Amino acid sequence: MRITIIGVGYVGLVTGACFADMGNRIVCADVDKKKIQLLSKGTIPIFEPGLEEIVRRNLNHRLFFTNNIGHAVRESDFIFIAVGTPSKQNGQVDISYIEKAARVIAAHLDQYKVIVNKSTVPIGMGYLVARIIQKYSTGQTPFDVVSNPEFLREGSAVKDLLKPHRVVIGADRREIAQKVSEIYEPLHCPILLTDLKSAEMIKYASNAFLACKISFINEIANMCDQVGADIHQVTQGIALDPRIGDQFLNAGLGFGGSCFPKDVSALIQMGKKHGYQFKILPEILEVNQFQRKWFISKVKQTLGVLKGKTIAIWGISFKPDTDDLREAPSLEIIPALQKAGAHVKLYDPVCTLAAKQIFKNVQVCKTAYEAAKNADALGLLTDWNEFKQIDFKYLKSILKSPIIIDGRNIYDPHEMLENQFIYQGMGQGTRLYSLDQ
Ligand SMILES: NC(=O)c1ccc[n+]([C@@H]2O[C@H](COP(=O)([O-])OP(=O)(O)OC[C@H]3O[C@@H](n4cnc5c(N)ncnc54)[C@H](O)[C@@H]3O)[C@@H](O)[C@H]2O)c1
Repeated sequence: MRITIIGVGYVGLVTGACFADMGNRIVCADVDKKKIQLLSKGTIPIFEPGLEEIVRRNLNHRLFFTNNIGHAVRESDFIFIAVGTPSKQNGQVDISYIEKAARVIAAHLDQYKVIVNKSTVPIGMGYLVARIIQKYSTGQTPFDVVSNPEFLREGSAVKDLLKPHRVVIGADRREIAQKVSEIYEPLHCPILLTDLKSAEMIKYASNAFLACKISFINEIANMCDQVGADIHQVTQGIALDPRIGDQFLNAGLGFGGSCFPKDVSALIQMGKKHGYQFKILPEILEVNQFQRKWFISKVKQTLGVLKGKTIAIWGISFKPDTDDLREAPSLEIIPALQKAGAHVKLYDPVCTLAAKQIFKNVQVCKTAYEAAKNADALGLLTDWNEFKQIDFKYLKSILKSPIIIDGRNIYDPHEMLENQFIYQGMGQGTRLYSLDQ
């Protein structure tokens, strides 16, 4: 099939590369000239496991990159929109990128095309896209607009795209949704055909529910801290109930990234616009915010005064296996520690350059151990695999004080105790607060 993808970010690039690998002819178009220059040479501007190999395998053969969006529109029968839909200051969705993409599509609509919206958009946006295209095209060329929300996760995006749990395709004409579903047939996955608005809603409902699970387990973890229970054991116990399950129940610093915070905010705002006041959703965001403060207070409690202390930070991306820093807890935690007078040394396996650009007055280190050397405490913010294989004896020998505040609960509190660390996880019981207790 001949497919154009407008917007070559985390979603657009992975979609384009995987669709090309499935045998389609793909043109990926973006307004970002530097990004397209890099991609045209096979250089991937983001960190996403497995992606580079797929791009290189298909480049200039089935996969093409261009800044000429109009040309890209004319080249294909299916036009996927995968541009960003960031939050505005008030939490509403900034739909300006979608609107711009729709206008370009309109201006170059030379024959019948199916416009497939993959971006996460406010419910009803599909109709707005159709109205924009109608208004700015000659009005003579027929087209259809379909919603195909994306569920991939950064860090496992290639796997998620090639082995999806489900593909949702929403259109008011079933035969059009079926046409789009043919693209996904080689994946042999469940394909749900819905109406347009329901497809758009499914994306928000999914993200809000997952965010809710995280905030819920974080509140239970905070309570475990208060009463001396262990969140690991509690989670195991509740997860054995098949109605609850064991996914997405990791207590820690809460969610970040480009999706959950903005999508929950957007749903709250959409509710207001349509006369419905969500009660659960604002609390999900509040708990999420609180987790970061909770972590900072753990550092303060453990270290006492922060002024003049050196704190090593391991991991700054919002989750492992990605370089995405959008809404990452590190963006709030590091400045807060600095504000309290601490000096921060940090290490992240992939975000070195970004760390230097984003954080002021931090020491960006080349290795985890370099960051830990002579630090008064170590704070773990991202659960990269690298941090799970640590030589604890060596770590203890280089830290000034053997204090670890583990924001992601990757270490076993008992092993920490055996290795004589002063260890604080998230919800692992105050009884492990220090060696003296
Ligand atoms: N990142 C994720 O994990 C994820 C997962 C599921 C859904 N989504 C949704 O997918 C959409 C895209 O997210 P992303 O993370 O890939 O965004 P991104 O910011 O990584 O990429 C967006 C790209 O669109 C380009 N762009 C913006 N306006 C354009 C225009 N008018 N024409 C051409 N290109 C344009 C930008 O230059 C950028 O390269 C969002 O709606 C997001 O909510 C994201």
